[in-house]
Amino acid sequence: MEVDQKYETHEYDVIVIGAGGAGLRAAIEASAQGVRTALLCKSLLGKAHTVMAEGGIAAALGNVWSEDNWKVHFRDTMRGGKLLNNWRVAQIHAQEAPDRVLELEEWGALFDRTPDGLILQRDFGGHRYARLAHVGDRTGLEMIRTLQNHAVHQGIDVFMECTMHRLLKDGDRICGAFGYWRESGRFVLFKAKAVVLATGGLGKIYKVTSNSWEYTGDGMSMGYHAGADLIDMEMVQFHPTGMVWPPSVRGLLVTEGVRGDGGTLKNSLGQRFMFNYIPEFFRAETAETEEEADAWYTDKTKRRTPDLLPRDEVARAINAEVKAGRGSPHGGVYLDIASRRSPDYIKRRLPSMYQQFLELADVDITRQPMEVGPTCHYVMGGLRVDAETTATTVPGLFAAGEVAAGLHGANRLGGNSLSDLLVFGRRAGLYAAKYAKDHPGALAINPDEVEASARTMLAPFEGNGGENPYAIHADLEDCMQNLVGIIRTEAELERALDELAQLKRRLARVSVEGNRQYNPGWHLALDLHNMLTVAEAVTRSAIERKESRGGHTRDDYPGLDPRFARVNVVIRQVRGDMSVGQEPLPEIPDELKKILEEKV
Ligand code: FUM
Repeated sequence: MEVDQKYETHEYDVIVIGAGGAGLRAAIEASAQGVRTALLCKSLLGKAHTVMAEGGIAAALGNVWSEDNWKVHFRDTMRGGKLLNNWRVAQIHAQEAPDRVLELEEWGALFDRTPDGLILQRDFGGHRYARLAHVGDRTGLEMIRTLQNHAVHQGIDVFMECTMHRLLKDGDRICGAFGYWRESGRFVLFKAKAVVLATGGLGKIYKVTSNSWEYTGDGMSMGYHAGADLIDMEMVQFHPTGMVWPPSVRGLLVTEGVRGDGGTLKNSLGQRFMFNYIPEFFRAETAETEEEADAWYTDKTKRRTPDLLPRDEVARAINAEVKAGRGSPHGGVYLDIASRRSPDYIKRRLPSMYQQFLELADVDITRQPMEVGPTCHYVMGGLRVDAETTATTVPGLFAAGEVAAGLHGANRLGGNSLSDLLVFGRRAGLYAAKYAKDHPGALAINPDEVEASARTMLAPFEGNGGENPYAIHADLEDCMQNLVGIIRTEAELERALDELAQLKRRLARVSVEGNRQYNPGWHLALDLHNMLTVAEAVTRSAIERKESRGGHTRDDYPGLDPRFARVNVVIRQVRGDMSVGQEPLPEIPDELKKILEEKV
């Protein structure tokens, strides 16, 4: 029997895998180009990590500070990324973000307003001017709501709780994807002329994370196995402020908007310790006294408060304070907004944070400080994509959002993810549709590829090796948290590689109970293939980059090393093995170099 008769089969011009901000925006654009488009969600439509970008969308609208423009945004993004960014991606992003925000507003998104009715913008780490368009601290949620409405009204076919496990190829070219319905466990085959990956990140390989269960590196792993390059995988972002208490919510995000709106970090001695952690790279633009730091909120000729240094700097500082014994009782530091802002202001600007701490930790943030610490939030690395089209190195395969790399370099500035999703989600949909139109011929599914994938996916039901997927996952989280965390050393990274190899052997002996109908143990066993692939990519890349830059800190190679300044670490599958190498980034044109060199 032909595979498309044996398995439920759907045929589209473009399928978009992943339905967060990038996936929704890509599907909207592809469908607007008149091609048959499907949107596939691992989870329910609207449940995406996009909602965890709470504080706002970065775009140089210039509504609060007319001095702001794309050039300043470009410079902030490149400096925040320690110049490891792809300059063209960063340029397109800064130039197109304002239009994408205004378009979202036209589609019905609500934003907080300035007194004269413009979209209000707030301060965030690493941004020179108040630049984040927001609605309280629920911006990601509002963005998803708006895109979801728009997509549904456009009549895009949506497949919910439908998880893709493998990309299919016709020769060198992508021709679809194979996966399963979570509810029934039945396999499903999608034929497509072009595929957009918008599956988000990999936070679930870490123990303390703001990510929810869906974020298992699926797109990166599927792309890698289909032959695409991964770059910058060592660059993992630990957001400085996650909840640390109670244990059941450890890692849950505390928006940077708290600091953007005036919150300050303090240690157990009550000191504003960030003044002790100003790196040379940012010294010229960072305030060194409390008076100057506080004045910056209203006077942008002053230097920026160190509480709003880029995230990598703040996360490392918190880590160091806790290690030095100046942490809070539950292993974090204090984040205090109550001393500076009125209860009314806090409840209006940060309603979710107010509720979150009251309900989950019994802390009233209008009167008491929060306890916070770093949490794995984002990965800057991912699939290598073309700046203009978002095409990966595999024909017919496109990628946008967190699954793709290049925009953020070594460290992402807060708020730049939501604008990334809109700018490059749109481009992914546009160019995937164009690719589908330019390649109208019929595609051949390779039945051996499908059958091999089906056999691998069913193996956990037949295995009698007795390995439990939950135990493997817990050990993976421990390994990554302890050995490939915020501060890294060669010895620990090598140990992590050994442990990952052992975990892979254990995964080959994994067994699950029950049948294929809604079986979370089986789903996790399948996700573990992806998690182990991306965990190995992160670890091998971290060994390769023998310097400290952005989200990658090597205790044994402290400081920036000019030899790695404009070098991507590249992961590629070669004869079934993971190879790691280095490749130079494209040269920055002179006119953009001038922008980077301008004094702040
Ligand atoms: O802190 C936050 O609200 C997160 C924003 C982001 O990751 O962009």
